[in-house]
Amino acid sequence: MAFAPYDRPVRAAFIGLGRIYDLNVRAYLNNPDVEVVALVDPREERRTQRQADFPRAAAFASAGELAASGIGVDAVEALLPIPLHIDGVLELLGYGWHVNLQKPMCNDLLDAQRMLDAAKAAGLVLRVMENYLFYEPLRRLKSVFESGDLGTVVGYHMKMVGSGSGGWDVPWSSFEWQIEQMKRGRGILVFDDGWHKLSTALWLFGPVSEVRAWIGTTSFGHGIDLDAPTMIAWQHANGVRGVWDITLAPDLYLRSDYYTNDERWEVTGSKGFARVNRCTGRGVQQPSLEVYVDGEMRGYHALDDDWASSFRDSGRHWLRWLRTGEGPLMWSGEEAVDVLRFVLAAYASSGSGGIGVNPSKVI
Ligand SMILES: NC(=O)c1ccc[n+]([C@@H]2O[C@H](COP(=O)([O-])OP(=O)(O)OC[C@H]3O[C@@H](n4cnc5c(N)ncnc54)[C@H](O)[C@@H]3O)[C@@H](O)[C@H]2O)c1
Repeated sequence: MAFAPYDRPVRAAFIGLGRIYDLNVRAYLNNPDVEVVALVDPREERRTQRQADFPRAAAFASAGELAASGIGVDAVEALLPIPLHIDGVLELLGYGWHVNLQKPMCNDLLDAQRMLDAAKAAGLVLRVMENYLFYEPLRRLKSVFESGDLGTVVGYHMKMVGSGSGGWDVPWSSFEWQIEQMKRGRGILVFDDGWHKLSTALWLFGPVSEVRAWIGTTSFGHGIDLDAPTMIAWQHANGVRGVWDITLAPDLYLRSDYYTNDERWEVTGSKGFARVNRCTGRGVQQPSLEVYVDGEMRGYHALDDDWASSFRDSGRHWLRWLRTGEGPLMWSGEEAVDVLRFVLAAYASSGSGGIGVNPSKVI
């Protein structure tokens, strides 16, 4: 079924009003493309808190109650804990709503296929949002190497240091489902945060033909097993090789308005490099993007490098897409499956001593 764009503001509902709502909501405030008609969360305090943003929206404890209310909904912003993604998405599609789902899509390929099949059968759109693709320093990094200024791309390097000091408060209830995920072998660094990092590789350099990984564990007790130190390396079908290293520095204070991840991205070209110095946290206080070519360093001092802006722009992109049907979804459900395959290949490789695994062959 062809998608018919809306010729009026999209009627939207938030499903899940927890920590990340604070950033996702930025796309919905003061946006003529959307009317927020409902807010859903089983926790009353969350509903009351979020109602301040949308006083005219109706509030419900469950999506079922919203569906039964008769309020017209076109699309939902699904901000559910990861273990609830599969059942939640099937339920939301079942009500006839387009879904903008938070990443990671789900834990395995079988569930991903069930989601794709359900969306297709219902003639609805399933998007898996990827805000990093809307982070301005990364977008500029892409345009710099695509312009040819760096020469031929010869390598891609990402680095992340997870720290336990600084940043915003994360409620214990958010960690509870992350611990559940850890027990299923879907760790918070490689699987949850890794979804973003591996997405940037696919977005910048295209399909991946081989992945090699060495995934470690650091235990903090009480079931909190973090999946670092970890190294993941891969080769794209175009020959570019990438590497991502994850380390933990639990006592390192990192100034951040959000999570305490110290992150870097670097594209090396035959005649220069481009490096994004930070994203989620405020680690390196140099310009967020620096480009070195022919002995000269150029710093980009005026980019919108607030991580929250990437949520605003990703969400606005989705709502505009619903109004026009134009351009890529970033990501479609099918593209999200490529990200899932990438990370599953890393698990398969690490579990087999680091051998090369082709993501298209994982099951
Ligand atoms: N894009 C990013 O960078 C980013 C960052 C953090 C989290 N996330 C993702 O966002 C999602 C939510 O994470 P969070 O940190 O906000 O979690 P959270 O635990 O803070 O919030 C989840 C909310 O969902 C509610 N909920 C539970 N069951 C529900 C149901 N059946 N119907 C409606 N609401 C229900 C909970 O009461 C809670 O308020 C996860 O998928 C997570 O991976 C993405």
